Amino acid sequence: MKKMWAGRFSKELDKAADDFNSSLKFDCKMYKQDIEGSIAHASMLGAKGIIPSEESEKIIDTLSDILSDIENGVLTFTNGAEDIHMFVEQELTKRLGDTGKRLHTARSRNDQVATDIRLYLRDKTDETKKLILSLITSLLQKAKENTKTVMPGYTHLQRAQPITFAHHLLSYAFMLTRDFDRLEDAKKRMNYSPLGCCALSGTTYDTDREMTAEKLGFDGVVLNSVDGVSDRDFCVELLSALSILMMHLSRLSEEIILWSSWEFKFVELDDSFTTGSSIMPQKKNPDMAELIRGKTGRVYGDLVTMLTVLKGLPLAYNKDMQEDKEAIFDAFETALMCLTIAAQMIETMTVLKDNMYKAAQEGFINATDLADYLVKKGVPFRSAYKTVGQTVALCIEKKTVLDSLPIEEYKKLSDVFESDLYSEIKLETCVEKRISQGGTGEKSVEKQIKFIEDFLNK
Ligand code: ARG
Repeated sequence: MKKMWAGRFSKELDKAADDFNSSLKFDCKMYKQDIEGSIAHASMLGAKGIIPSEESEKIIDTLSDILSDIENGVLTFTNGAEDIHMFVEQELTKRLGDTGKRLHTARSRNDQVATDIRLYLRDKTDETKKLILSLITSLLQKAKENTKTVMPGYTHLQRAQPITFAHHLLSYAFMLTRDFDRLEDAKKRMNYSPLGCCALSGTTYDTDREMTAEKLGFDGVVLNSVDGVSDRDFCVELLSALSILMMHLSRLSEEIILWSSWEFKFVELDDSFTTGSSIMPQKKNPDMAELIRGKTGRVYGDLVTMLTVLKGLPLAYNKDMQEDKEAIFDAFETALMCLTIAAQMIETMTVLKDNMYKAAQEGFINATDLADYLVKKGVPFRSAYKTVGQTVALCIEKKTVLDSLPIEEYKKLSDVFESDLYSEIKLETCVEKRISQGGTGEKSVEKQIKFIEDFLNK
């Protein structure tokens, strides 16, 4: 088919080159934003007398018809257009003739695409923020049910100190609040209108960029027209925020995978979020968590794609930038799917509190508390630390734990030990007493719960 720009050419575009060049198959996702942008532009052209107002009105009405025809499935993306912008304009011209041809006055596809993608990503950002809140809600719910559930906290994947499961889950909720804020913050910087930057240098027409910006819900206009059509830093920012979000989801998934193994058995995932094996009849696999962990790689890849596409580009627009869309669309779609699955997986999982408690009883995770016991009786911390190290070694030799080592044995290591030590190193005591700000003690966890609740209600 004849291209809109065919005037200058004597030959048609090669078929393979045409397919290679076309972005309609993926940028058709932005049809709504493209039409909204065009409606704003057309009404500005009419208001400023750049085109006759009757024609502006006709354009606006027909664009609205095109939008509903696409939404009702009457119009499909099959007119051979190069991209969504050409698609809509071609359709408009088919319906309106010369009037349709006036729409592209004082604009270029370069500012048009930059506008569309910002509008599209604004919606995707809001959708993602909503789902982050749902995941935080699921984590909070499970946390509230487990403020007394003692488990081993780990460092180096070695049992370290007792914590509550609530405390552990809330740490993810806090990470997610920052993911939410990062997206919101990136959106603030993105929300400026490039419409009216035209090809790169602005225009000789007396346009009103503030007017179109306001109609489209932007907070203002991009003040340098070369910047407006050249940069995609907002995509990079959003991809960074999504990568960090996915990194958090991946760590959470990794823990769920570990916790649901026979080795840990801290949680049991619901049947509806696990799969079986085609050969091993006993298997119940945490595929959803594994997929979230795996898909994190895609989103990191999307970030690197975007950074790499941009790094060598001279200003202003270059066709390389068409590659922005598949990367950023993929990242949002992936993150949205993963957030949905993660929230439901957490919500439906069963916490095996007894197994967590049993694991906490082994591994000498109350050793720090025993050292603190000596410190409170006047022993300097480093000496206390050494004595407790020796006590642990003795327990290992005698195949026992700190709670069961007789007081006579303790006395041999230090005469500061009294039988009140046993109540001090009980797991419940270790947890309860950690009420330092941010700590695992119930009082401190209640405050964390309150913070998250306030965040959700904000
Ligand atoms: N499909 C193009 C893109 O996504 C639209 C802008 C084309 N501009 C141009 N001068 N060829 O980037």
